Amino acid sequence: MRAAWVLLPALAALSAYYVYLPLPGAVSDPWKLMLLDATFRAAQQMGHLIHYLRFSHHLIVLNYLISTFDLYQLESVSSEDIKVTDAVFDGVEVRVFEPPARGDESLKRGVVYIHGGGWALASARTSLYINLCRIMADSLNAVVVSIEYRLIPKACFPEQYHDALRATKHFLQPDVLAEYSVDPSRIAISGDSAGGNLAAAVCQQLSKEEDLTVRPKLQALIYPVLQAFDFNTPSYQQNRNMPVLPRHVMINYWLYYFNGNHDLAHALLINNHTALDVGQALSFRGRLNWTSLLPPSFKKDYKPVVQTTGTAEIIQKMPALLDVRAVPLLADNETLQLQPKTYVLTCENDVLRDDGAMYAKRLENAGVDVTLDHFHNCFHGCMIFTLWPTDFSAAFQTRSSYIKWLDENL
Ligand SMILES: *[C@@H]1O[C@H](CO)[C@@H](O)[C@H](O)[C@H]1NC(C)=O
Ligand SMILES: *[C@@H]1O[C@H](CO)[C@@H](O)[C@H](O)[C@H]1NC(C)=O
Ligand SMILES: *[C@@H]1O[C@H](CO)[C@@H](O)[C@H](O)[C@H]1NC(C)=O
Repeated sequence: MRAAWVLLPALAALSAYYVYLPLPGAVSDPWKLMLLDATFRAAQQMGHLIHYLRFSHHLIVLNYLISTFDLYQLESVSSEDIKVTDAVFDGVEVRVFEPPARGDESLKRGVVYIHGGGWALASARTSLYINLCRIMADSLNAVVVSIEYRLIPKACFPEQYHDALRATKHFLQPDVLAEYSVDPSRIAISGDSAGGNLAAAVCQQLSKEEDLTVRPKLQALIYPVLQAFDFNTPSYQQNRNMPVLPRHVMINYWLYYFNGNHDLAHALLINNHTALDVGQALSFRGRLNWTSLLPPSFKKDYKPVVQTTGTAEIIQKMPALLDVRAVPLLADNETLQLQPKTYVLTCENDVLRDDGAMYAKRLENAGVDVTLDHFHNCFHGCMIFTLWPTDFSAAFQTRSSYIKWLDENL
């Protein structure tokens, strides 16, 4: 009994220590975010332990936990309003959300949606994404195709990209669009985080293919990850410890995506891979010069981190670091000019804020019509967290702004 009086406060203090994180004052629902982050960290640590014991890959464990603790299991719930079917588009699994026919208006809009999760986590079957796709299908009267691309560790770059491209190209065929009653002139490609990366890369590739008869009207990128050249942009510096995506975790996802050696993580973190003496990187430097691409409110007092001497072998071992199919921000001006009207959503409390903001600026410089929708009080990944107990006001705020833009522009 006595022991309990000592143990309980000690446990409480320990849990508080585990959960508590200093967060910037402007983040909405800070306590909820700390709890979400602590849960996510605990799941990651359990994954690492199981990985260490060599039972399974930690990302497989994490994904297993995500699907097992998916409280809603929306997968098995059919809705009266939206028809949900699974299909295979050119060998790639997809989940299709179709709104019912409405009166005489026969053709619908179309949205290709690519979910996020570091090319490793979540699924088109995760309730949070099913919920998002349903709401989009319903509020936009759109057929939403959610791509179930293969994930790390089963697949790495360029497999995820190829899956996303193949499924999208299959959908864009006139006879397939006709089958789903989709208007070929009203199609958007969209995705969040790593899905935003794939969406941007797919859009670039489609714009370069001359024999396509149907092209997307829009792209909408939600806090996309777009470059692995500079891990010291102002947002990477400012948010390096921010939940749910601290800088070292993002670097690890890149290393997994490229099937790279994790011993290189620190070299990447200090930009050794793109030092001034690394010849292959030089010509790309001007394409993501944040001192000219970002507004002063983003740059604040942060200084560029540019090494004079670095490690040239990193890019030799991982040439994908400079491959535009993985890092769409490094595309040339000619490709950028061909991009459709673009929406980019960014969050202030996100290492990837500047990836999105720099892409928006480069597209704008290339003459593309761009909307940069920036949220001061939001964090990376927030838009999908609309279901209790992980329901954040940031989610509703960003989601309604995103859907509103699509509604007005698609
Ligand atoms: C980046 O932009 C700044 C400001 O426009 C300029 O002074 C600098 O030379 C540029 N650096 C590179 C590598 O292009
Ligand atoms: C970065 O590169 C320099 C020069 O090659 C090297 O001395 C240093 O050890 C590297 N740092 C890391 C963390 O790899
Ligand atoms: C690409 O566009 C930017 C902005 O308009 C311009 O500063 C740069 O010189 C262009 N690069 C090339 C290679 O044309």
